[in-house]
Amino acid sequence: MRIVLSYPNFQFILYSYIVVTSAFNKAPSYIQALMTVTLTINNLTRELDLDPGTRLIFVLRDEFALNGAKLGCGLEQCGACVVLVDGQPTYSCTKPIGELAGKHIETVEGLVDDDGHLHAIQDAFLELNAAQCGYCTAGLIMRVKALLSDNPKPSRAEICAALDGHLCRCGAHPRIIDAVASAAAKLRVRER
Ligand code: FES
Ligand code: FES
Repeated sequence: MRIVLSYPNFQFILYSYIVVTSAFNKAPSYIQALMTVTLTINNLTRELDLDPGTRLIFVLRDEFALNGAKLGCGLEQCGACVVLVDGQPTYSCTKPIGELAGKHIETVEGLVDDDGHLHAIQDAFLELNAAQCGYCTAGLIMRVKALLSDNPKPSRAEICAALDGHLCRCGAHPRIIDAVASAAAKLRVRER
């Protein structure tokens, strides 16, 4: 017997397949109940009713209007989304909000002081033109903040190692490394 799969039937099968597989892929968002989460971001504390599986990057952008951190790969492979959670560099593209209650989240916007002055790292990136399109910049700056907190005078090799997980498609790497060294020097002077 020969089975003829007409075009409308094929469309129906394809559509059913897409609906069923999407439902499975998104199962956690459909199944998990909303949870009240208290989040502190850049010293602003808010309570939100959210699916605990919601990734931090979407909460930053959609609930707090903080658009500095960028969504790149969504797979912890590019570093564009990095923010600090209790001082530790964290991929906001994969971090579920349900794990962040009581933690302090810091984004690139939080580095500007109350008088609007940029942080030394931001100053150094600007002065040395360490950004071209800027897509990678916010994630890099937060990684650098964590690096310089732990190691105020990193060698070039230590800077490269710390930034290893960050991709810059524009190829601004040499200027980025120079900017980190310059920021470290500025911070050492400011803290004298
Ligand atoms: S978007 Fe998070 S690491 Fe690429
Ligand atoms: S400046 Fe464009 S990706 Fe880094």
